[in-house]
Amino acid sequence: MKTTNTSEPWRVGVLFSRTGFMAVIEETQLRGTLTAIDEINNAGGVNGRPLEAIVYDPGSDSRAFGRYAKRLMVEDGVNTIFGCYTSSSRKAVLPVVERLNGLLWYPTLYEGFEFSSNVIYTGATPNQNSVELCRILMELYGPRVFFVGSDYVYPRESNRIMRELIRSSGGSVVGECYVRLGASRNEFLPVLREVKRAQPDVIFSTVVGDGTVFLYQCYADLGLNPKVMPIASLTTTEAEIRAMGYDVGEGHITAAPYFQGIGNERNSAFVRRYKKRYGDDEPTNMCLEASYFQVNLFAKTLEQTNSMDTEVQRTSVMGSEIHAPQGEIAINPIWGHADLWTRVGRANRQGQFDLVFESQSCVRADPYLLGYGRHVGQRSLEVA
Ligand code: ACM
Repeated sequence: MKTTNTSEPWRVGVLFSRTGFMAVIEETQLRGTLTAIDEINNAGGVNGRPLEAIVYDPGSDSRAFGRYAKRLMVEDGVNTIFGCYTSSSRKAVLPVVERLNGLLWYPTLYEGFEFSSNVIYTGATPNQNSVELCRILMELYGPRVFFVGSDYVYPRESNRIMRELIRSSGGSVVGECYVRLGASRNEFLPVLREVKRAQPDVIFSTVVGDGTVFLYQCYADLGLNPKVMPIASLTTTEAEIRAMGYDVGEGHITAAPYFQGIGNERNSAFVRRYKKRYGDDEPTNMCLEASYFQVNLFAKTLEQTNSMDTEVQRTSVMGSEIHAPQGEIAINPIWGHADLWTRVGRANRQGQFDLVFESQSCVRADPYLLGYGRHVGQRSLEVA
């Protein structure tokens, strides 16, 4: 193992959009990343050396993620990158980190069915969110589901999985519409008129970014009622709810490993520190939380290895555990994906989620749905 006797910073790359239609959520991931880096540095850094973030703004353009990843690795000499929300941006970074042997830490839920030894996946896979969400939607609202998505890989693939889950539970997909990434508010109105005509029991949204805000606002404009036909999602967090308005978000359903309101002391302290830094009105969310805990996991690994070498880092992080704000989580050594908690919440008038379901422990990542979402702890807790 290479040991170094230096106070030089450990340089890492950070790629999240601060501008464009994805900034509503990616800005919070940037904040989660920088908060963790600052906290680590304020506590003395890693083995006496501070972390230094080299940050670029890809402006919600997937190809720019690929270009900046290359710049980070070739010009800035960085091999560890924290970044990406959309699966299309991850897929633009993937060939860069694979060719140049870097390590991307990816803190966003995604469609699964991917493995790269150059990526650590710390967001949820379908067995950690879609499986339980499907069961709850069938039970609480009914079997007829309408899909609305942004038009790129995550929504198309996520819907393919959700369709299988719905059909195997005896339900049906009564409509499916996609709206381009970066669409304006007007582009959601015809979609919702079609939803209204189809009269499903529930809408499953895989819309992301500003599109989420527009979708829910158009839904409210048409006078649709979340008590009867809610929008259910894997991507609508406290950040998008804040942007759309708490009254607009109220009553809709999201499945996520983390909500701001979950009651444990570690999370309460995390939320307090975050709000002190960014303001009382700024909520935390699942993507921010994953961005935060993955930097801490990286730092824990770096402390043990004292090496930024990709193979050394990767080998050491496999199987490691950390107390995240969501609870205790681990990196699954088979898949390099995080074992995460499953939670389903309903948004309330305060822009927070009331829990409908919570697993009793973290759920093993199963990105290829081989075991169809078996829980690590045998039993799950039904909250309401
Ligand atoms: C996503 O594009 N992985 C949300």
